[in-house]
Amino acid sequence: MLGIFKHYLPEDFFQGAHDIHCHLLPGVDDGFPSTEKSLYALKKLEEHGVKKMILTPHFMNDYPNNNRASITAEFEAFKKEAANACQIELRLAGEYMLDRRFPERHEEGFLTLDRAGTHVLCETSYLMYEQNYTNLLYDIMCEELQPVIAHPERYEYAGRDVYYRWRDKSYKFQLNLLSLAGVYGGPAFEKSHFLLNEGFYDYIGSDMHGLDNFKRFFPEIKLKTKEIDAIAQLLENNKTLFD
Ligand SMILES: [Fe+2]
Repeated sequence: MLGIFKHYLPEDFFQGAHDIHCHLLPGVDDGFPSTEKSLYALKKLEEHGVKKMILTPHFMNDYPNNNRASITAEFEAFKKEAANACQIELRLAGEYMLDRRFPERHEEGFLTLDRAGTHVLCETSYLMYEQNYTNLLYDIMCEELQPVIAHPERYEYAGRDVYYRWRDKSYKFQLNLLSLAGVYGGPAFEKSHFLLNEGFYDYIGSDMHGLDNFKRFFPEIKLKTKEIDAIAQLLENNKTLFD
């Protein structure tokens, strides 16, 4: 019976948390627009107990100037500023769109989620995905790289058959926390709960582009005890990427 009741996340739920997906690197994509806003967000996140974060700017056709060297330089400059503002440990990776320029990104070397250099955060378009995307992922898996699919619940074309196929191909799944509050709409809300309850997810991220959505929707997350336990496990899994 207890399993049917839903609860808000406990106040201290993110004590010690490691976020593996966010757009806090300022001015490089559709994420935070200024250093000031990013630093303010870092201080707020620190107050909630967040300890480590991986900044994952977009590498996609929409941002043609983003490349490994330019983003690394932006990150190094921002990291120095952040060190004066908070204690959160920052790392850099990328969120790679599976588009026509993905092979180029592959060629220059991916900024990976883990120190070993294997876990590549990948996304497709929500509607018009590259038909070739499974081949792109196959190519990187041949080199023993591990695709981590960002927010699988958000892809409108993906039904349960797609998720089972992706799991059979050994892709890892990363949940966006706010999907559970319905911020991306009803279908993404339903799919996130299905995937969480069925144990599909490996990691969790904020995918934070700004603070406003978090302030508004975070308090609306209400979950079954089993789901809260599942998220706690995903947060533990996140830590393995920092080893
Ligand atoms: Fe993202």
